Amino acid sequence: MIIRREQAADRPEILALIEAVFPEPVEARLLRELFASREYIPELSLVAESEGGEILGYVISTRGWVGETPAVGLGPLGVLPAYQKQGVGSALMHASIDAANGLGVPAIALLGSADYYPRFGFVPADSVGIISPDPSWGSLFMALPLEGFHSGVRGHFKYSEPFNNV
Ligand SMILES: CC(C)(COP(=O)(O)OP(=O)(O)OC[C@H]1O[C@@H](n2cnc3c(N)ncnc32)[C@H](O)[C@@H]1OP(=O)(O)O)[C@@H](O)C(=O)NCCC(=O)NCCS
Repeated sequence: MIIRREQAADRPEILALIEAVFPEPVEARLLRELFASREYIPELSLVAESEGGEILGYVISTRGWVGETPAVGLGPLGVLPAYQKQGVGSALMHASIDAANGLGVPAIALLGSADYYPRFGFVPADSVGIISPDPSWGSLFMALPLEGFHSGVRGHFKYSEPFNNV
């Protein structure tokens, strides 16, 4: 398996994967809108591809803001059901974190499972001064401060516009 950047020709397969992973259509619709948005970042749209060329997993982060500071919001992340719990999601997460660090992004924020993301270093966002867009998310709104994080990265997190339609 390799992790590589998404190419435009991959999009039908990526969208089919997200539809297979998530029972509700909301994630696939969100992803279509993220692909078309100004906040799309090519370096942070990653596929896990098998030796045979099948896309097994996918992750995207798009531009968001902590107060006025550009950061990123991660999601959706998905791995084909037949390939889950074999390390594909972890490989995508590590590649995504490395790529964000390489771009100088100060922090990654996400809404997700408290059983999964802490293994990558994510902590409740408010514990590092990043305030959730929705207080009802509680500690499931998490953040990972990266190498470029500094004390000025504080305030309300704002996702790109497509997340407002979810
Ligand atoms: C969540 C998901 C992306 C994880 O990908 P994956 O390839 O299955 O994960 P990995 O194999 O890298 O798992 C690493 C560890 O996380 C655990 N894990 C996997 N999915 C998990 C989940 N949903 N919740 C909690 N732990 C999970 C694995 O058991 C494994 O634990 P171990 O290291 O102790 O054995 C994948 O299961 C998936 O697509 N799930 C459905 C969609 C989804 O929930 N997306 C994320 C939204 S928050």
